[in-house]
Amino acid sequence: MKKVLYFIVLVSSAIIYSGCDDTITVQDVDNREIPDSNVSFSKDISQIFELKCVSCHGNGGLDGGVDLTTWAGVVDPRIVIPGEADTSPLVWTIEQRSGFPIMPPRDSPFLPLTSKQIQGVKTWIDEGAKNN
Ligand code: HEC
Repeated sequence: MKKVLYFIVLVSSAIIYSGCDDTITVQDVDNREIPDSNVSFSKDISQIFELKCVSCHGNGGLDGGVDLTTWAGVVDPRIVIPGEADTSPLVWTIEQRSGFPIMPPRDSPFLPLTSKQIQGVKTWIDEGAKNN
């Protein structure tokens, strides 16, 4: 009996969850695959920033003078050096390297990037940080 009840709860919550809301959630983007090469800014990267960064960097504020709502804002030479992920300050912030501000900030409600997302951002920068 208990099992049946669990099942009903599970199915109905799945229906409610998928039925009401078709906006893309952080979870959708966190679960998304990112290719090992030919990473696309529009397909693979920009939505990560949209969900985890732009509340402070573009929509409503420009913390640190950083605008992550557009490609041009992301490739600001102060934060991204095309072809050089390891020397790009943006990478230092998402990798949480010591001595650099951690992004998203720990005391904010935004989740850190997954290791897959960090790798994706680095590959995209190493491949030239193209507007692709
Ligand atoms: C809750 C607000 C908030 C969120 C969310 C946030 N940032 Fe920031 N960001 C800040 C603030 C505040 C600063 C300026 C902090 C400083 O210079 O110490 C900053 C500065 C930066 C800088 C400049 C760092 C430097 O060395 O000057 C980069 C790059 C950056 N953020 C990237 C990101 C990325 C990428 C994300 C999403 C993964 C993100 N931020 C999410 C608030 C935020």
